[in-house]
Amino acid sequence: MPRKTSSNNKSAKLTINNKTYDLPVYDSTAGEPVIDISGLHSQAKVFTYDPGFTSTASCESKITFIDGEKGILRYRGYDIEELAKKSDFIEVVNLLIYGDLPNKEQLKKYKKLITRHTLLHEQIINFFQGFRRDAHPMAMMVGVMGALSSFYQDSLDIGDAHQRQEATRRIVAKSATIGAMAYKYSIGQAFVSPKNNLTFSENFLHMCFSNTAESFKVSPIISKAMDTIFILHADHEQNASTSTVRLAGSSGANPFACIAAGVSSLWGPAHGGANQAALEMLEEIGHSKNIRKFINKAKDKKDPFKLMGFGHRVYKNYDPRAKILKRICQKVLNHVGIKNDPILKLAIDLEKIALKEKYFIEKKLYPNVDFYSGIILKAIGFPPEMFTVIFAIARTAGWTAQWTEMIEDPIQKIGRPRQLYTGQNNLKYGAKRSKKNTR
Ligand code: ACO
Repeated sequence: MPRKTSSNNKSAKLTINNKTYDLPVYDSTAGEPVIDISGLHSQAKVFTYDPGFTSTASCESKITFIDGEKGILRYRGYDIEELAKKSDFIEVVNLLIYGDLPNKEQLKKYKKLITRHTLLHEQIINFFQGFRRDAHPMAMMVGVMGALSSFYQDSLDIGDAHQRQEATRRIVAKSATIGAMAYKYSIGQAFVSPKNNLTFSENFLHMCFSNTAESFKVSPIISKAMDTIFILHADHEQNASTSTVRLAGSSGANPFACIAAGVSSLWGPAHGGANQAALEMLEEIGHSKNIRKFINKAKDKKDPFKLMGFGHRVYKNYDPRAKILKRICQKVLNHVGIKNDPILKLAIDLEKIALKEKYFIEKKLYPNVDFYSGIILKAIGFPPEMFTVIFAIARTAGWTAQWTEMIEDPIQKIGRPRQLYTGQNNLKYGAKRSKKNTR
């Protein structure tokens, strides 16, 4: 079905076996135009093939814009640099979900609504007890996020706008509490209740670092750094985890189950897990004198090693989020009294050397958001296993906004890609058996 908002009466022509098909072309408000191939199979009986979706737009969206060549990231039209400086995480959540910046009253009300949802059902404490103490906090995050659908059954009806909104608020608010509980559980400390007089970021730090004997004093520099990390990770258009949330949601699954699917997808080291992997890699490199050896490994086609925190599917320029984090990194380290952190020095040296290397220049590989975030989070006091959890808490904003947009899209249908089948055909049962010993 042609899009009224973006149809420009242009078309692209595709010729298959001497027959030409006209395919509608839609203009974006920013970025490249899109060829609509949705009617191609019914007309031409062919599918398109695009592993990893490198040339495929899976949906129309008004939420986030990225220009990977120029290194631009905008939420609802606002530049990320400006939002990081002037806004705060909850305002950004509101912007992503509702489409424009809230006025003072709306923001005050929204902050109150989010704050009201930071508590978890008491029964969830029992749920946590079922995990091993050495479980990765992301394992707990996936499990508990999915389990919310059994606790909050009054926000599962995706056809009811009020329930949808209630679910998004619950997901954003409770994700911070779940993340903090996962951390406390893994270090064997009692859970710390949320404090509603604190901001979202201050409250998260409080739930992680206060304990029954001592209250954590949240410094403005650290809470601003935490808040900026949340803002920078809040959304990133149709990345793997967001596409997972949309695909899961397209079947009508409830929002908590969809977000749990997104958390799972985010966990992988090629996606949200890269912040943990980047810090571990820097620790493995250990010293600037070893950089050359690791760069050579990254360049070696036979070696699976990659420079973690480098490269991006969309950015073929410096990731604008990495630029902001590089600045914050020094501030946070100075604040916590680490004047000359060897890991930060190593990161800066590695970046300098890699960016001069032909391999990285030709492949347009620049530091991404994960390169500096781990150093900041470590300086704040988080262990590496918590880095992806923090990413997931922030991304609940984008996931819920994208899920809402999808549900409210009148042409939304179940996501169901096709395939290029290259397997066997028409075998007679038993005529052929495997001779390999590898299964
Ligand atoms: N180190 C060394 N070589 C790299 C790196 C890297 N970090 N990233 C890409 N390359 C190479 C690839 O080997 C490939 O080489 P080839 O053309 O000779 O085959 C080429 O650059 C293109 O890379 P692709 O993997 O095809 O790019 P893709 O868009 O599929 O992958 C990805 C992007 C997954 C982010 C990749 O750059 C990577 O694995 N980086 C390291 C992990 C990382 O930092 N992930 C975080 C991404 S940001 C986020 O999710 C928040």
